[in-house]
Amino acid sequence: MSVLEGKKIVLIITGGIAAYKTASLVRLFMKRGCEVQVIMTPKAHNFITPLTLSTLSKKPVYTQFFEGNTGEWNNHVDLALHADYLVVAPATSNTLSKMASAEADNLALATYLSAKNTVFFAPAMDLDMYKNPYNQENIKKLQQKGDILIPPNKGELASGLEGEGRMAEPEEILDFIENYIRKELIFYKKKLLITAGPTYEPIDPVRFIGNHSSGKMGFEIAKAAEKLGAEVTLVSGPTCQKLSHYSSIKRIDVMSSEEMYQKVTEHYQSTDIVIMAAAVADYRPETVSKTKIKKNEESFSLPLLKNKDILLELGKTKSNQFLVGFALETNNEEENALTKLNKKNLNMIVLNSLQDKGAGFSYDTNKITILDNKGGIEYFDLQTKEKVAENILKSIHERIKT
Ligand code: PMT
Repeated sequence: MSVLEGKKIVLIITGGIAAYKTASLVRLFMKRGCEVQVIMTPKAHNFITPLTLSTLSKKPVYTQFFEGNTGEWNNHVDLALHADYLVVAPATSNTLSKMASAEADNLALATYLSAKNTVFFAPAMDLDMYKNPYNQENIKKLQQKGDILIPPNKGELASGLEGEGRMAEPEEILDFIENYIRKELIFYKKKLLITAGPTYEPIDPVRFIGNHSSGKMGFEIAKAAEKLGAEVTLVSGPTCQKLSHYSSIKRIDVMSSEEMYQKVTEHYQSTDIVIMAAAVADYRPETVSKTKIKKNEESFSLPLLKNKDILLELGKTKSNQFLVGFALETNNEEENALTKLNKKNLNMIVLNSLQDKGAGFSYDTNKITILDNKGGIEYFDLQTKEKVAENILKSIHERIKT
């Protein structure tokens, strides 16, 4: 999933020949799931039509402060504040100079000057213009203010000369912006190992011991972690949950507690943060029948063996990992969660209780309390599992920072 998914982009197009490439740029933003508002300077109309851009962005394109026929005001402040990111592409020498000296003689510049969010600018001009000390000074000024330069390419220019000044290609602009945003994310490059779902402990080829976990909680944590820049490995028991748009999550499907133990320990040493949301079976049948067990007897007993406690084992060999467990309780909730936190050498535990309506197995919602190994405790209301996942990751981040 792109870090740009759902983001609001204001694309400012100024009057240079590279403006013709912005049709592709708009398409790329749209494909990433962005909402794109195009603003053109009057001179940009010489290079590409507003109709092309409004068709691609599925929105009217603005140029004037007022619409001629209706007198409707295009509020530059609202346009600027509405956006997550402003992108000025191509940024001509003329517009760069006005941006750096706070001139607001068109809607595009007034919007730029009202923006509080991150601004990317992709210069496009002839090589000597680009080298010109005044342009270089303006670029520096903008960078000092916090705007982000998308460097131009070297190559053939509209003048026929060769050199630095070609606007970066639309794909390069997209990659640049995505990489920039990714690096700002709180879990950028952090390795997260997450478990989800139940485990199935086979009795015979037909039957198993399992539980009601749907995998929703663990999957939501994995998705939220990926959105925050983490490199996620998700070890999941049997579930019908999907990760359609999250191609960077490494999913490992397992069946039994022993398989989950093997996969988790395989990845443990290279992991920064472990979150065990899986409902792991505590016991497994002592023997697994190769054939279906017949129901000949009136009663039937099944000798069980204790499974390894995966989290307990991880706690014993913990080095720098931040270890997070879940506690699913029905009574003496906080006390039991604290016992698990200490016994398993965890940094944090997420308590959910089956006493709370809408919490625990299978619901789309959960109600959690977070306890940590420094005595901290945080209570949360009933929320969607998506929101719960975000809160868990936020809590982990706050504890890792300090
Ligand atoms: O999947 P959903 O339908 O969305 O439901 C979510 C959930 C209720 C399964 C989830 O929120 C949850 O509470 N998961 C942990 C359930 C559980 O097994 O809790 P526990 O209190 O029995 O175990 C404590 C911790 O030890 C857990 O992190 C568990 O993963 C871990 N454990 C338990 C047993 C075992 N043999 N090995 C373990 O690592």
